[in-house]
Amino acid sequence: MDRLLIEGGNKLNGKVNISGFKNAALPIISASLLAADKCTIENIPSIRDVYILMDIMKGMGAEVKYNNGTMDIDTSKINTHKAPYELAKKLRASYYLMGGTIGRFKTCEITYPGGCDIGTRPIDQHIKGFEALGCSVEIQHGVIKCVASELLGTNIYLDVVSVGATINIMLASVLAKGRTVIENAAKEPHIVDTANFLNAMGADVRGAGTDVIKINGVEKLHGCTYSVIPDQIEAGTYMIATAATGGDVIINNVIPKHLESITAKLKEMGVEVVEYDDSIKVAVKSPLKNINIKTLPYPGFPTDLQQPITALLSMVSGTSIVTESIFEGRFKYVDELKRMGAKIKVEGRTSIIDGVNRLSGAKVSATDLRAGASFVIAGLMADGVTEVEDVYHIDRGYERIEQKFIGLGAKIKRISE
Ligand code: UD1
Repeated sequence: MDRLLIEGGNKLNGKVNISGFKNAALPIISASLLAADKCTIENIPSIRDVYILMDIMKGMGAEVKYNNGTMDIDTSKINTHKAPYELAKKLRASYYLMGGTIGRFKTCEITYPGGCDIGTRPIDQHIKGFEALGCSVEIQHGVIKCVASELLGTNIYLDVVSVGATINIMLASVLAKGRTVIENAAKEPHIVDTANFLNAMGADVRGAGTDVIKINGVEKLHGCTYSVIPDQIEAGTYMIATAATGGDVIINNVIPKHLESITAKLKEMGVEVVEYDDSIKVAVKSPLKNINIKTLPYPGFPTDLQQPITALLSMVSGTSIVTESIFEGRFKYVDELKRMGAKIKVEGRTSIIDGVNRLSGAKVSATDLRAGASFVIAGLMADGVTEVEDVYHIDRGYERIEQKFIGLGAKIKRISE
């Protein structure tokens, strides 16, 4: 398994290009199933999760070509509603194949989703939505089976704001009869991006980006060409890493509006952040101030950046308090940061961070995707060498992470075994 060796102490400087958004690309690739036609999807990040989903789609009969960020996918020959068990198990986002196959075939059979170990991660709201549309749902031996004789539009109120459930219900309802209304819907940029892709295929989805989404069922969808939005979490990670090293970096190919919560928090810390049309500059000109953060659904501070920003705060003088309101298990990585010298106390869903003057390089294991990003940032700040193990977690969601950081002046080496 690959490891990263990071020699800390170098300020990041220069320019970095942000890739397409993982969390939009995965539902969009899954949604292409609904057209039974050819789609060309641009700005797809070259990351492990995309390759796993591509293999799943091929396993189901799709023809897929992926080159230089562009995926040509022909789903016309898919004739199964079953996703290959072993592959689907590896990928949390394989749950989008439920919405995709239900929409297309009115039936699905898929393993209970895997993914990062950051909490219990139920899918009851997805199932509630499928049932409301007319599916009967059974879970047996770790496999979810849904069958409907007819999909009928209806009103669905989500009990919790869920990104996955909102998208999955959109996918399952675009070809249903009549109108589906999702209330208390999530508003993340990838929900809007998926809705835009569905509309480009001929669907009638309105209100994505607000908490009420209305879907008027259509008879048929068709192929299209579409480009995925930039990855706000990758961009946020480079913004935080720049602040952490006292650097000065221009982050290109971003939508600054999607980064407002991160920009606001970095500015509160005293970091200079300048927004341009599709890039953002982050520079440190004075010592940073401690802050408090609570993760929230969009447009609040994203839970996916909780771990990276905690690494930064671990070296900011004073006490910072971080409250995790989305995933209760998202503090497991803190023990690894403590091994590097961080002073962090976790109480329930809150971590209390007492900033230290120095972190020291240590061997740490990337327990999940964003924990891995947090250790890379900690390694960039630390004295000596940090060895990050289990890099495959990081490769699930960050394209060429070490090369992008090396381009900014970091000293990182990948050891492949
Ligand atoms: C997605 C993202 C993940 C991000 C998260 C929150 C993908 C592939 N993953 O995950 O990176 O951290 O959004 O922005 O896009 N919940 C329920 N029942 C459900 C569904 C969710 O109780 O049926 C709860 C979850 O336990 C969690 C909260 O709702 O506490 C939000 O989860 P959700 O938005 O669904 O996250 P994911 O779609 O799993």
